[in-house]
Amino acid sequence: MSMKKYRLRTVSIALCLSVMAFSGAGYSEELPKAKADPGKNATWTEEAVKENYIMNCAPCHGETGKGNGPLAVDSFRGVKPRNLNNAKLMSARTDEDLFKATKFGGESVGFFGRMPSWRDTFTDVEIKQIVQYVRKNICKCEYNEKK
Ligand code: HEC
Repeated sequence: MSMKKYRLRTVSIALCLSVMAFSGAGYSEELPKAKADPGKNATWTEEAVKENYIMNCAPCHGETGKGNGPLAVDSFRGVKPRNLNNAKLMSARTDEDLFKATKFGGESVGFFGRMPSWRDTFTDVEIKQIVQYVRKNICKCEYNEKK
């Protein structure tokens, strides 16, 4: 291969990668959206809720919610997954805030980053259970309007 051809190829690969990074393409294929329990509207066991958190949320938010999961590279337009372990921040949010952010995605509550919407994956009942899981096991906090 001539040097010129080689350079051209390198440039086009780099261009392609940066277009992908910019548009967010490639990102959605990477995103795991999986349900531990297919039962629609059924109430999950605590184990199932945990499994769903680990499979779907932990890749970005981390198992303990610190925002350090394997997909938490700073590619979400520079916005890191929120530290759901931060009791001070999380007690400033109502359960409805967390429900809305999870169901409709970050943009629905005015965030700029790539918090995905989960309405096609989980029922409302399931999202409420995940929010309660975050309350009980991740931030270990409740809404407190004074904070
Ligand atoms: C692809 C990475 C990614 C995945 C997967 C993900 N999140 Fe997020 N999440 C984010 C980012 C980034 C933010 C920061 C807010 C923003 O700018 O969108 C966020 C924000 C949030 C917030 C808002 C926190 C606040 O400050 O009010 C909640 C709640 C939340 N995520 C819950 C979840 C739950 C529950 C799941 C799993 C069902 C999940 N996230 C999966 C990236 C992700």
